[in-house]
Amino acid sequence: MTIAPGPVGVLDRDMSATSLLTIFSEAKTCLEQACGDDPLLRDVSNRIYMMEISEEGMKGVTGCIPTHSDLLNAAIASMPDDKFSGLKSALATDKQHLHWRVDEGRYYAEGADVGAGYKEGNMHALLIGSENCPIKAEDFLLGFFLLAPRTLYRDHSHLAPELYLPLTGPHGWRFDQGDWEDFEAGQAIYNAPGVVHATRVYDIPFLALFAWTRDIGSACRVVPTDDWPEVEAELHRA
Ligand SMILES: [Fe+2]
Repeated sequence: MTIAPGPVGVLDRDMSATSLLTIFSEAKTCLEQACGDDPLLRDVSNRIYMMEISEEGMKGVTGCIPTHSDLLNAAIASMPDDKFSGLKSALATDKQHLHWRVDEGRYYAEGADVGAGYKEGNMHALLIGSENCPIKAEDFLLGFFLLAPRTLYRDHSHLAPELYLPLTGPHGWRFDQGDWEDFEAGQAIYNAPGVVHATRVYDIPFLALFAWTRDIGSACRVVPTDDWPEVEAELHRA
């Protein structure tokens, strides 16, 4: 799949603060609904609830979509209206106010074998974090994560406890290199520290909210698995 680069834009900051607050509020509502009464998941939404949030604090963020604009639009269009109408609408009109970045290995040890699929087809934007984020926090991340169709996000683990709320689906997951299991949009996934996990993306781009709730400075560790070539070939045959 060829992904054409999109425009780089730096936008008016006052307008962007209002837009970012709307996106954040909609994302928070989706998380609260998805976390339900599960204590592990609920901890994430409770911690977000405790953070100091203001439109004023969001004024320093510069919006940017460096690449993958078509992919991002396709992902947003694939979000189900019955579950995510508010967030879908906010992202459709205001996604350019977020600072999107491609991960080129920042979260991994140098030379980690993340695979070409991940390198060429990932992008994320943070809502909560320490750097150019709408909400500042030192050891907590909340953001959006995008993967291109037919990508294998290879088996890996990290110290940070991780919550995913997929906004599109279905897509496949496996844990501790077990059997693949499909998840739908709206089905939250919690990865405890050290759990090895992998994701395979089918025809619909993967877009999710994700949170790392501590130990965000600890690098991800790729866990080599013999079947990567087979899984990647199968995704491209489909
Ligand atoms: Fe992870």
